[in-house]
Amino acid sequence: MSSRKGIVLAGGSGTRLYPITHSLSKQLLPLYDKPMIYYPLSVLMLAGLREIAIITTPADQDQFRRLLHDGSQWNMSFTYVTQPRPEGLAQAYVLTEEFLGGAASTMVLGDNIFFGHGLPELLRSAAGRAEGGTVFGYRVSDPERYGVVDFDAEGRVLSIEEKPEKPRSNFAVTGIYVLDGSAPARAAKVRPSPRGELEITELLNSYRAEGLLNVERMGRGYAWLDTGTHASLLEAGNFVRTIEDRQNLKMGCPEEIAFAQGWISADELRALAAPYLKTEYGRYLVRVADGA
Ligand code: G1P
Repeated sequence: MSSRKGIVLAGGSGTRLYPITHSLSKQLLPLYDKPMIYYPLSVLMLAGLREIAIITTPADQDQFRRLLHDGSQWNMSFTYVTQPRPEGLAQAYVLTEEFLGGAASTMVLGDNIFFGHGLPELLRSAAGRAEGGTVFGYRVSDPERYGVVDFDAEGRVLSIEEKPEKPRSNFAVTGIYVLDGSAPARAAKVRPSPRGELEITELLNSYRAEGLLNVERMGRGYAWLDTGTHASLLEAGNFVRTIEDRQNLKMGCPEEIAFAQGWISADELRALAAPYLKTEYGRYLVRVADGA
């Protein structure tokens, strides 16, 4: 069996952030000191994934390529896939069927920001299950805005509903999906919902119907930040700044993670830092390379 692959879904029209996203992809917007997509990409890298598909709209693909290249600069491999229209999250698996080639995958939504000690272990343990799917339930004050999961003490899913008017629990399904190799075949069977989208909850329900869907609680020690409105985008950026200033460490820094994983050498990291030396970001990479 081929090893697990990663997907970052960075399509969508970002209408809730207009006019900012009128001519710029939401996932390229700055979150304090780096583009938003660095954060979900970093999550996959922390989980040890190096082969990643980046799904964008056709219009935005060039800009993502200009930022992230083919991944070889971090000793990774990026495959660009376009989603012509925003027809639902489950479509990501239809679009990446060839890329996946039967492999299991971990998908992160390109606008989902996670922070918390133990995240790599959480993802690795979910990825360790040979069969089925794992999603993460996170307690929120406004579950009706999300996929909502109700589960029993053993983590067995009782129900999963997309943006229900009357949520059965306070647990939202976060934008990380750890699925086995059957995801593309299952996604192909999902029919469009009344709003015309292939809903991720339907795909998850196909696992649930066979008793193959696990929910892990992502506890209160984690931050799962919203970037869906102008105010929450600013708040998320301030969160990053607060943590980074306090610790003098960066959050969601792919170069640092590639180095920490042993994918690039200290000299390669210094070379990556060279064009960025006018910024604290670049000086940070040099300090990391120097082990300072
Ligand atoms: C999507 C999913 C939803 C999930 C959420 C996480 O909603 O449909 O189930 O809880 O992402 O960010 P969207 O944010 O696209 O409305």
